[in-house]
Amino acid sequence: MSISLNINGEDRLYHGDPRTSLLDVLRDTYRMTGAKSVCSAGFCGACTVHVDGVAVPACLRPVGLLDGAAITTIEGAAPLDTLSALQAAFAEHDVVQCGMCFPGMVMSLTAFLRDAPAPSRAKVKTAMVGNLCRCTGYERIIDAVMSLQDSESAA
Ligand code: FES
Ligand code: FES
Repeated sequence: MSISLNINGEDRLYHGDPRTSLLDVLRDTYRMTGAKSVCSAGFCGACTVHVDGVAVPACLRPVGLLDGAAITTIEGAAPLDTLSALQAAFAEHDVVQCGMCFPGMVMSLTAFLRDAPAPSRAKVKTAMVGNLCRCTGYERIIDAVMSLQDSESAA
């Protein structure tokens, strides 16, 4: 079966089993290993990508249901060799430890901030509920997100 995908702005024609998860297609076929395979069951959020602009766990999406979809992965979150404002804030706040949660966290929060550019701290916490981090305790991540508002109001 052939499935048309647009991944990070590039058209791709996937030939294979339509039951294969989008996560496996990204990682195994296209060697985009930014989305992480951790629980493979929709619990951890480490595999989060955007499908038609919506943050979803790629491990739960059979690729056969995605014909014609636009996919954005962490590799497409910012132009090559640059960081998005959120990624830069993560770096400034020393958010990343082991890094397994980081790509999914960025993708979930990027979609959230697009729709809610000036969220409260409580709303940021709620937005992160689908992304588990075993290392950081979350506070630095929230600090990083909140700092985006500080830098915008200072500009
Ligand atoms: S690997 Fe997809 S939610 Fe955990
Ligand atoms: S930095 Fe290790 S799981 Fe989040």
